[in-house]
Amino acid sequence: MSIPKIHPSILCADHGNIENEIKRLVNAGADYLHMDVMDGDFVPNFGLGAEMFAHIKKYTDIPLDVHLMIRNPAHHIRFFRELGAEIITVHPEADTHIAGTLALIRELGAIPGIALNPGTSVEMIKEVLPLCGHVLAMTVNPGFAGQEFLEFTVGKIEILGQLSKKFGYSLCVDGNINPERIRRLQPMGVTNFVIGTALFRQDPAVMIRKIKEEYA
Ligand code: DX5
Ligand code: ZN
Repeated sequence: MSIPKIHPSILCADHGNIENEIKRLVNAGADYLHMDVMDGDFVPNFGLGAEMFAHIKKYTDIPLDVHLMIRNPAHHIRFFRELGAEIITVHPEADTHIAGTLALIRELGAIPGIALNPGTSVEMIKEVLPLCGHVLAMTVNPGFAGQEFLEFTVGKIEILGQLSKKFGYSLCVDGNINPERIRRLQPMGVTNFVIGTALFRQDPAVMIRKIKEEYA
């Protein structure tokens, strides 16, 4: 089995000490930095802004994985691509023309990602799976870190894992992920893992190294 790709959630990092936080994550072998962008409308929270992207880009070239929890994401794809996003993930629940948005992301040279709320079924997005390079299955309702893992999402993750063999996208989970859940979900075909609270509870570098070693 391949080594899990780790996406630390920057929402959970110490923003007052971001330079050190980023350097530690990169040195420990993080694969992407997960950037949660929230508009206070699609989800009841705000974050991360252009300033944070520019700031992070000063310290590292590590690819940025941008999770857009905003309505009408198509209006802002160019903006985030210019800020250095390599994976751009949008929610179909927030976009009337998801196929066009995914095509635009690809046209701009980024990897198109689709994120599914816990209550959104695979049925709703199966037509656009051929357009996706990345699928993000939410295991909490989006908006906040530190929530309870929603057990009912696991059935959908299994289906998405099966479909990933046909379509070739990377399958990622987001919401209360920890090493134990990586062990459980990886055999279902999940390749990428966003980790927030569990990672920053102690030294994130230690946990990233341990996960990588376990699968090396
Ligand atoms: C939730 C965000 C997540 C969050 C993950 O809306 O999309 O990326 O920061 O944090 P934890 O791991 O604490 O659920
Ligand atoms: Zn996220």
